[in-house]
Amino acid sequence: MAYYRAAGNIPPKRHTQHRRDGGELYYEELMGEEGFSSDSSLLYHRNIPSTVSASRVWEVRDQSTTPNHPLTPRHLKLHDLFDDAAVQEADVVTSRRLVLGNGDVRISYAVAARPSPWYRNAMGDECVYIERGAAHVETVFGAFAVAEGDYVIIPRSTTHRWLPVEDAANPLRAYCIEANSHISPPKRYLSRYGQLLEHAPYCERDLRGPGGPLLAEDIGASADEETEIYIKHRGRGPGPGNSVVGSIHVLPFHPLDVVGWDGCLYPYVFNVRDFEPITGRVHQPPPVHQVFEGMGFVVCNFVPRKVDYHPLSIPVPYYHSNVDSDEIMFYVDGDYEARKGSGIGRGSISVHPGGHAHGPQPGATEGSIGVEYFDELAVMVDTFRPLELGEAGLAADDGLYALSWSRAAGKQAGGQAVAALQDTDGAHSEG
Ligand SMILES: [Fe+2]
Repeated sequence: MAYYRAAGNIPPKRHTQHRRDGGELYYEELMGEEGFSSDSSLLYHRNIPSTVSASRVWEVRDQSTTPNHPLTPRHLKLHDLFDDAAVQEADVVTSRRLVLGNGDVRISYAVAARPSPWYRNAMGDECVYIERGAAHVETVFGAFAVAEGDYVIIPRSTTHRWLPVEDAANPLRAYCIEANSHISPPKRYLSRYGQLLEHAPYCERDLRGPGGPLLAEDIGASADEETEIYIKHRGRGPGPGNSVVGSIHVLPFHPLDVVGWDGCLYPYVFNVRDFEPITGRVHQPPPVHQVFEGMGFVVCNFVPRKVDYHPLSIPVPYYHSNVDSDEIMFYVDGDYEARKGSGIGRGSISVHPGGHAHGPQPGATEGSIGVEYFDELAVMVDTFRPLELGEAGLAADDGLYALSWSRAAGKQAGGQAVAALQDTDGAHSEG
C-alpha cells in the first residue's frame, strides 16, 4: 500500500541513532519489497532481528497437487473438511488444508479453535478471508481484531499469529489465498502515486491497519521468552509448480519487540461489506467485481446488489469461455442455503477450468428475468495458470458437478443431488 502510516516510538530522522531510556540503541530493520525499489517500512526492535538460536524442519501439511485431468468442472464442499473434533485441534497456520494451487497461488482452508504458532510466510503475501468467526491477529506491526467478511492482507515475511475467539457454535473459518508474489488493489484503481481513485469500489477509509499500542509495550515478563517461528519458504517441495517447504527458527526472545515503525508496507484489513458494487443496465463483467490482484491471479467478490435494469435485461451471466483463466468461486452467503446438502451452497467452491465454457444451469437464464436484486456473497479467484487439486480439493469433490448442465445426464444418474445442481449456480452469480 502506498499509504503511509506510523506507530509507536520512531526517531525524527531515518537511519539515525534511536536509543532506549538506558542509552542502548534500538535495532533498525528495513522491511522492503522488490529489492529496495518498492514499498517498505522501518521497524525498531529491542533485539537484533537476525538472532536465531536454532533451526529445524517444519513438515508443512501436504502441499502436493494433482492435475485437473481429464478436464472437469467441479464442486468442492469445504465444510466437509473439518469435523468438530478436528476443529478443536486445528490452528489457522499449521492445520490449513490445500484445496487448489499452481505456481502462482495456493488456496487453503482451515476451521480452527486453537492459537496458531508464530508464523512468517516467506513465499509471498497472504489474503485470508474470514468466512465465519472472529480472531485477534498479533503482528510485529501491531494487533487487530478480525471477523466475518474481513480480508486480512499480510505482507510476505510478516511475523504474526492467529488467536481465534472462542465460540464453539461459530468457529473461525479461514479461506487462505497464498500468493507467490505480492497482493494489492488492482493497478487500474490507483493513481500514479498510489491513491485509490474515484472509480474504485473502495478507498483508504475502508482499510484498517494495525491499531492501538504496539505489543512490545505489553509483553512484560514474556520479553525474554524463547519463541518458535514457523517459516514457510521456497525450496524443493512436492508437486508440480509447488516448491513450498517449512522451517522453524527458535528465538531467545519474544518476537513482538518492535517499539515503533513507519512506512507503506504493513498488514491491513478490508471488509467485503465496504465494497461498493458497480451495476449497470445490462450485465457487468467480472472485472467490476475485482478487489485485489497478485501475479498470475485476481480476486473478485460478488456482493448483495441491485442487478441489471434494462427493460429486456437478463440478470444472470451469459455463457462464457474465459479462455485464459481457471475460475473458482467460493460461496459464502446468500440464497444457497435452500440447496444445502444437495448442491452449491454455503462453503462450496465451483471450479470452472479454462477450456470449458460455463454459465447458468438449465432454466436459470429464463428464471432470472425480472429479478431486481441478488442477495449473494461469493469470493472468486481467477488464475492465469491452470489450477491443480490439493489433497483437500480431492477430498471435498462431490464428483457430480460436471453433469449439472445436462438434464439428460441428470436423469440417467437418477440422483437428487444432480437434479438439485441443475437449478443452482447461475441463478445467482457469475460462477
Ligand atoms: Fe465465470
